[in-house]
Amino acid sequence: MILVENILKKYNAVGINIPKFMIKWMRSNHAGETGAVWIYKGASCIFWNKKISKMSKEHILTETNHLIVMENLLTSNEKSKLLFLWRIMGFVLGFLSAMFGYKFFCITVDAVETFVEKHYNEQIEYLLNNNLNYKLAMVLKKCCDEEIEHQQDARSKVLEKDESKITNFWKKIVGSGSNMAVNVSKLV
Ligand SMILES: [Fe+2]
Ligand SMILES: [Fe+2]
Repeated sequence: MILVENILKKYNAVGINIPKFMIKWMRSNHAGETGAVWIYKGASCIFWNKKISKMSKEHILTETNHLIVMENLLTSNEKSKLLFLWRIMGFVLGFLSAMFGYKFFCITVDAVETFVEKHYNEQIEYLLNNNLNYKLAMVLKKCCDEEIEHQQDARSKVLEKDESKITNFWKKIVGSGSNMAVNVSKLV
């Protein structure tokens, strides 16, 4: 319990009331962070690839913090009813992309984090532009900054820029899949 409290303090996620209009957003954040943790769990299965293992180990620490933060900002009946699905989808995405090797995994992480950055920024901008719940906006900002770190980390590992049709097609699939998951988790 002490550990959870420390994480909440680190993200300044204590004593925040979630405004009603933010609940569906927060539900999608919680679902997304669940998926993120499971992406790295899936990728860790390719344990013989040391680079994939290393990145997964590093990123999963931050994603677990994000998940704990989101978990504590919602009550259990505000959370998505489809968490099992977000876990499976995250796991499959991490496992499959890692199976195709380090470069493909990094491209996938970059695509996911680019989507997540946009997703968090939409909420942060809305809150700030309307002078609403500054404290919550800053929690989301801290999470978002760390997603950008993941994105940059993954991007920096892919030295030659890959603009092949397959890569672009894959990035589109990852982007639209993430978008669909957000929309569904906003509802249930
Ligand atoms: Fe995250
Ligand atoms: Fe992330």
